[in-house]
Amino acid sequence: MALLDKHHIIERNATLLLVGSLFVVTIGGIVEIVPLFYLENTIEKVEGMRPYSPLELAGRNIYIREGCYVCHSQMIRPFRDEVERFGHYSLAAESMYDHPFQWGSKRTGPDLARVGGRYSNEWHVQHLIDPRSVVPESVMPSYGFLKDKPLEIGDFSTHLVANVKVGVPYTEEMIANANADLLAQANPDADHEELLARYPKAVVGDFDGNPNMVSEMDALIAYLQMLGTLVDFSTYDETGGYR
Ligand code: HEC
Repeated sequence: MALLDKHHIIERNATLLLVGSLFVVTIGGIVEIVPLFYLENTIEKVEGMRPYSPLELAGRNIYIREGCYVCHSQMIRPFRDEVERFGHYSLAAESMYDHPFQWGSKRTGPDLARVGGRYSNEWHVQHLIDPRSVVPESVMPSYGFLKDKPLEIGDFSTHLVANVKVGVPYTEEMIANANADLLAQANPDADHEELLARYPKAVVGDFDGNPNMVSEMDALIAYLQMLGTLVDFSTYDETGGYR
């Protein structure tokens, strides 16, 4: 009771109340912030996540260059309407290799976080060339020119090295084989054993239907077909483990 009797001292002295409040808030702040300096990673690891294959990474660069994120988000929120429409809500780990992340803040078009495998490559080609030929009411611009533009590959390993700098765990082997892996993924007749060992579940194919050239559209569709397919949600358990 003695403590309660004294409380009026703090309550009647604005300066003391302010200093006292700051003291309490500081303790709360320290408790929340200090662990972040010691934790190596705040993202829970999830089975299946891997860095982008070189062709997917090239497609992602085009996705960013063309501003697809202006109309499309890549983050399904854990609400019933979103989950029923798009699929399992997004996990933090699913964007752990995204620099910059593509969560987006506006949905003029649908969320794309789980669009991989939802449509055929042919559908994507048709949709990118003339969106209104498949969805008559669409307001999406046409991106047909991507099919005629050869993908600038150069020394693609430099893109992987840049990602390593920001923490993406590309191995020496992945970096050394960047160009070979990129070309193998875009060629259905190539040997895909090494590519798939390095990048499990990578979708291979001649995405845009023109086998004579690796186009920007090939890369973009390879990226779209991968989105949301890496984590196997039939075995993922929301409570944190695996069934
Ligand atoms: C001006 C806004 C806008 C931009 C920019 C835009 N889109 Fe779209 N997108 C839409 C709209 C609206 C739809 C829904 C109608 C349709 O399917 O065309 C859509 C649909 C899609 C779909 C089908 C999704 C589904 O689940 O049915 C894909 C895939 C897609 N867009 C990819 C892209 C890519 C890749 C880019 C960049 C090259 C892009 N979009 C740029 C507006 C946009």
